[in-house]
Amino acid sequence: MVDIAIIGASGYTGGELLRILSRHDEAEIKIATSDRFADKPIYFVHGNLRGILNLKFEKFNIDRVIKHCDFVFFATPNGIAMRYVKQLLEVGIKVVDLSADFRFKDKSIYEKIYGIKHEAKDVDAPYGLTELNRKEIRNASIVANPGCYPTSIIPSIVPIIDIIDLERIVVDSKSGVSGAGASPKDVTHFPFINEDIIAYKIIGHRHVAEIEQELKKYTHQRVLINFTPHMIPVTRGILSTIHVFLKKEISEEEVRKRFLKCYENEKFIRILNIGEVPILNNIRGSNYLDIGGFLIDHERRRLVIIAAIDNLIKGASGQAVQNMNVMLNIKEEKGLDLIGQSP
Ligand SMILES: NC(=O)c1ccc[n+]([C@@H]2O[C@H](COP(=O)([O-])OP(=O)(O)OC[C@H]3O[C@@H](n4cnc5c(N)ncnc54)[C@H](OP(=O)(O)O)[C@@H]3O)[C@@H](O)[C@H]2O)c1
Repeated sequence: MVDIAIIGASGYTGGELLRILSRHDEAEIKIATSDRFADKPIYFVHGNLRGILNLKFEKFNIDRVIKHCDFVFFATPNGIAMRYVKQLLEVGIKVVDLSADFRFKDKSIYEKIYGIKHEAKDVDAPYGLTELNRKEIRNASIVANPGCYPTSIIPSIVPIIDIIDLERIVVDSKSGVSGAGASPKDVTHFPFINEDIIAYKIIGHRHVAEIEQELKKYTHQRVLINFTPHMIPVTRGILSTIHVFLKKEISEEEVRKRFLKCYENEKFIRILNIGEVPILNNIRGSNYLDIGGFLIDHERRRLVIIAAIDNLIKGASGQAVQNMNVMLNIKEEKGLDLIGQSP
């Protein structure tokens, strides 16, 4: 049994970690932190866990975490995990960080993008896209869990990266409002977002550098992502439409075959049929990444791939638990046997 601490347990990804791990029979949640709700029962914030988890929030105290836990999830804003990981790693406690603190090999890129001075520059973590980096994750003491948009986009490009124009990749993504976290914001306010769709961070979204960094590992050339995110009036789910331009003739069947081959033994990546498009109803509440489309506009050499994930599960807490399972040599699907909530 592994003893778990969730730092930032009152938030949305923290709540999902609690929900998933409460059903994981090789993990026990010992500490769930929240400064705002310290001493309140978990169900005070996460009503879905009433009668399921008999635990109270407590203030974050690193000494208590070290004393009582073997594995720590940081479900905190950027800039928090970096302050504590060295202390944890030194005493053999393993970590999955859901923030962006350890996603960049070159920490100066992180500092530039996030405007935060990095306090653990010498700590390296594999990028936690489980299906693509399983070997490194298995041997790691700390894993950088990917951003939600990158989780939908990177695996949808890797199988065809050698046959596309790497400087002309266009991605249009839509996200449910839980992607913005639990604190109310103008953009997530019901009268504002309801019956509307809002493009935001049209140039220079923080996830662009993360996607480019990871895709560059598969090619020696420059990779440029043209990315426009949108907020849509749903609670959870990300749908990414990816346009790539082909350098050589290829059929839709061959494209799909490449995806089938790349992910043939992957339980959490489902390859749809040609022309079939992923929908949020099929993945919401689950750890699946559905990839479909595979349609080619031959005149323009444009291939369209469409991907869908639940931002809080495959895009955050589900993949974090998947990574924990790999790091601890537990069956990878443990705790993640979740089916989409259609409709
Ligand atoms: N939402 C998503 O879809 C998503 C997807 C992928 C990755 N992520 C990343 O996951 C992380 C958590 O996101 P979220 O959406 O769950 O955020 P959230 O709902 O805003 O929750 C943030 C949590 O962090 C805690 N916290 C805030 N400042 C803290 C501090 N200084 N020390 C310790 N705990 C602190 C809060 O606890 P209190 O109750 O004490 O305020 C709260 O529990 C972020 O880095 C985010 O970028 C989010």
